[in-house]
Amino acid sequence: MNVLVTGGAGYIGSHTCVELIEAGYQPIVIDNLCNSSAKSLQRVQQITGGQIPFYQGDVRDEALLNRIFDENTIGCAIHFAGLKAVGESVEKPLEYYENNLCATMTLCRVMAKRGVKKLIFSSSATVYSGDNEMPLRETSKTGNCTNPYGWTKYMGEQILRDIAKADPAWSVVNLRYFNPVGAHESGLIGEHPNGIPNNLMPYISQTAIGKRDHLNVFGNDYPTPDGTGVRDYIHVVDLAKGHVAAIEYLMQHTGEGVFNLGTGHGYSVLDMVHAFESVNGVKVPYVIAPRRAGDLPTCYADPGKSREVLGWTAGRDQNDMCRDTWNWQSKNPNGYDD
Ligand code: NAD
Ligand code: WQD
Repeated sequence: MNVLVTGGAGYIGSHTCVELIEAGYQPIVIDNLCNSSAKSLQRVQQITGGQIPFYQGDVRDEALLNRIFDENTIGCAIHFAGLKAVGESVEKPLEYYENNLCATMTLCRVMAKRGVKKLIFSSSATVYSGDNEMPLRETSKTGNCTNPYGWTKYMGEQILRDIAKADPAWSVVNLRYFNPVGAHESGLIGEHPNGIPNNLMPYISQTAIGKRDHLNVFGNDYPTPDGTGVRDYIHVVDLAKGHVAAIEYLMQHTGEGVFNLGTGHGYSVLDMVHAFESVNGVKVPYVIAPRRAGDLPTCYADPGKSREVLGWTAGRDQNDMCRDTWNWQSKNPNGYDD
């Protein structure tokens, strides 16, 4: 079956293309490369031996989507394409709402017209309200997002829920990712953020390789075991496999389903720093800095529903995440520019 993968050249999309091919699916990618390189897809082909039809362009370009549907028989879609930098979304809200929501609506309009009504959406743990008890279940309270990026995910889910309610032929899966980290074990694909990384793991690995002087640990006075923020880090290959499990669910169900993709384990910032140092035999200098605005003390998933309904669990542990991040970083210090 052909799977349309929007944003397939990106970090999670490229890893998902590997798992799709290995599970016998054929990814067809559309990506405007605003935050990625087409080299990631060449590397996916190198890893898998498969071929990936690639359309360079914007998901909001309805004519291009029509052409893709004319040229290929699409069975379902996975919608990764979106802007994802939290801080940037506060500065450029219109750009985030425009890109993330218009892309989702254009895609759904074309899919509906073509009678392809099966869609997996990249949502985020950020849709959960900050006042929930841990662990977060799919039934936990959502909303009260602290930034426009988070609202685009909240609204994106709602748009899809309403579409599935209005037309019972639709099958939609909203996947709420926790904190994706790591890279494919080959070291051929991974995450390479533009500029200064916002997220912890790329910052750690760029510090270890000497691109950054030190890591700023944002706060050590949170109500957590060592005072630093606790998150549910999930290996990107496990996350990618979660999409394959979701396709199988999508083909057998209609309506809307929502699933957490996390491990259920919380690690602190200092846990991650120390694991990275000991697994890889490197130093990660750090200083304690003030808390970052908008951060929660603790955030981790209850992955029970994904385990029971999708038959999916995350098999890779913290050591795998640290080892594979460093393997990618040290083999590709400048990402796909090397
Ligand atoms: P990424 O930036 O590496 O990948 C997104 C891809 O979408 C990029 O290749 C980009 O070029 C492309 N893109 C963006 N807007 C587009 C448009 N209008 N048309 C065509 N292509 C477009 O990010 P990622 O980490 O792989 O994230 C994938 C998805 O998962 C995003 O929707 C993101 O919001 C979501 N998500 C990511 C995380 C995370 O921490 N990485 C967590 C939760 C959810
Ligand atoms: C993790 C922990 C920081 C950087 C974000 C988005 C979320 C989702 C995933 C897309 C926190 C601490 C970080 C640093 C630090 N993305 N930290 N020094 O904030 O949990 O989630 O990415 O959907 O929407 O908000 O991830 O990696 O930024 O931070 O001390 O230089 O590391 O304070 O405790 P976060 P993160």
